[in-house]
Amino acid sequence: MKLIEEVTDILSHLYEHGWDERNGGNLSYIAKEEEVAEVCSLDSNLRAFVYPDCDLSSLVGKYFVITGTGKYFKNCEKDPETNLGIVRVEDAHTLRLLWGYKTGGSPTSEAPTHLLCHAKRLAQDPAHRVVMHCHPTNLIAMTHVVPLDSARFTEILWKMQTESIVVFPEGVAVLPWMLCGGTEIGLATAEKMDSYRSVVWAQHGLFCTGRDLDEAYGLIETIEKAAEIYMLIADKKILQSISNDNLKDIAKAFRLEYRKGIID
Ligand code: 13P
Ligand code: ZN
Repeated sequence: MKLIEEVTDILSHLYEHGWDERNGGNLSYIAKEEEVAEVCSLDSNLRAFVYPDCDLSSLVGKYFVITGTGKYFKNCEKDPETNLGIVRVEDAHTLRLLWGYKTGGSPTSEAPTHLLCHAKRLAQDPAHRVVMHCHPTNLIAMTHVVPLDSARFTEILWKMQTESIVVFPEGVAVLPWMLCGGTEIGLATAEKMDSYRSVVWAQHGLFCTGRDLDEAYGLIETIEKAAEIYMLIADKKILQSISNDNLKDIAKAFRLEYRKGIID
């Protein structure tokens, strides 16, 4: 079950960082048919989950590994079949459960955000596969003390360490505090995913996407690392920093198409 092993390995790493307390965080991963077939029968039909407010038509036929609502990341590796599910999108509003959620339950409460973000990212990048949500401590702290503006957040995060602009040249989008667990926040997040792979939820956490688990996880690590540096130095006397010109030099050297209008 390589598919399940890879997913639960990443979930354990996220948990060990302290970014997924209790049932915090959720993950969904577009699985290939042959990967699913190694875990369960493709004809399996355990239950259905209906999302009347979400248009999933562009995802019909796709398989997802998706964490269960209320489940703890720390438990996924030792009992994946209870804490994870494998679903197929049956029609524009319905998921069919093929495997998992053994003791009951359903996909994460953030399933609307995950699914709408998958649809949006796939439209931008056919190789896209992963949506990851977690509660990184320093990034959440930043949303208490920095104006909730995507350009301002991006500029700060880029200037905290040399690697930031290399890893997320498109920047990060920031949403104001919104009620989580519904279609409204899902639509707002997916709208940002048109041109970002990372969306910050104020006083809540982070959504990152990627072509594979490592890419989405690496985005989270790099963004949270930059936020950690910011929270370490924000109230100190700054003697030197990365300048706009330094960032432009990095962009030139790495041939980055970075988001314009922030350091120009
Ligand atoms: P779930 O347990 O439903 O995945 O919710 C966790 C979470 O982080 C909500 O934003
Ligand atoms: Zn959350």
